[in-house]
Amino acid sequence: MGFSRLFLLLLSSAFHINLSSSKVALYFRYNCSISHGNFTANSPYEANLNRLFSQLKSSDQDFNYGFYNISVGQSPDQVNAIALCRGDQNENNCRNCLSETISSLQEVCPRNKEAIAWSQQLCTVRYSTRKIIGVMEVDPFDKINRFASQSVPLDVNDFDRALSFLLKNLSVGAATGDSLLKFAAGSTVSSQSIYAMMQCTPDLSHENCSACLATASDRMRTFCYGNTGCRIVQPSCFLKYGIVNFFDDSAKSTIVPFSPPPPTPTATEGS
Ligand SMILES: *[C@@H]1O[C@H](CO)[C@@H](O)[C@H](O)[C@H]1NC(C)=O
Ligand SMILES: *[C@@H]1O[C@H](CO)[C@@H](O)[C@H](O)[C@H]1NC(C)=O
Ligand SMILES: *[C@@H]1O[C@H](CO)[C@@H](O)[C@H](O)[C@H]1NC(C)=O
Ligand SMILES: *[C@@H]1O[C@H](CO)[C@@H](O)[C@H](O)[C@H]1NC(C)=O
Ligand SMILES: *[C@@H]1O[C@H](CO)[C@@H](O)[C@H](O)[C@H]1NC(C)=O
Repeated sequence: MGFSRLFLLLLSSAFHINLSSSKVALYFRYNCSISHGNFTANSPYEANLNRLFSQLKSSDQDFNYGFYNISVGQSPDQVNAIALCRGDQNENNCRNCLSETISSLQEVCPRNKEAIAWSQQLCTVRYSTRKIIGVMEVDPFDKINRFASQSVPLDVNDFDRALSFLLKNLSVGAATGDSLLKFAAGSTVSSQSIYAMMQCTPDLSHENCSACLATASDRMRTFCYGNTGCRIVQPSCFLKYGIVNFFDDSAKSTIVPFSPPPPTPTATEGS
């Protein structure tokens, strides 16, 4: 047992060194596409990508609620990007979020012709040689469930019903947003408060935004059930929930009164 304890200790300290030597934040997620190939150093593609990144970081771009759709160069070296900040963030936070995310993405996917990253503050940066504007994509995706061992207090089924109720309400709100912002945030209370937000890139149609959020909600049920907080991130949309208020701008969130469905015949409480 002493040996395996020592082995675990060595393993975890090696892992720790590995993590702390990287500037990448805890909730940062990314995917460097291997199927779209690499570019070479000093190529036109690299020059276009660098120009695109500096445009995204520059304050010359209109803020537009944190939605950016930029293309640089001509085919076959054209790079297309979509960047999106959380709908409750102001311009300054958004710009910082995008800058940090771009730096991390350059660090982790230095040569990929296509890549995506989602930051801790949930801004999304993606680029590709493909046309990505107006196209709904749910892959690659990731789930961010840091407190996997921290399960829902009280009644999990009650929590799940209230959460589903809230998410259904918010997904209608997000999908019916306009061509600049498809975002919804809100809270509800059952045995405890639940906060959630979701957002699509606003280039999506109403139907495609709904479809993207429906996939995210299904994945949430699969990967997050019984957890007090979780995020599902996809290229075209994300959702996040938790039991503490995480909104940056409470003016943009709504309170959704939870009206529980009538008790089922099997429920015996109170009798
Ligand atoms: C692309 O670059 C990565 C490193 O960034 C390398 O691991 C991979 O083998 C390269 N793929 C091709 C097809 O050259
Ligand atoms: C919805 O997304 C698909 C790709 O998933 C795209 O081909 C289609 O044009 C989009 N539809 C609308 C109405 O935007
Ligand atoms: C990146 O995305 C592709 C396509 O969805 C997926 O097959 C692959 O497993 C992902 N890679 C990582 C490291 O998550
Ligand atoms: C994205 O940018 C292209 C090129 O500038 C433009 O033609 C297109 O209308 C933009 N689409 C959206 C949804 O912003
Ligand atoms: C969401 O909840 C708010 C607050 O109760 C309500 O005004 C709105 O109509 C609901 N939306 C949907 C689609 O249920």
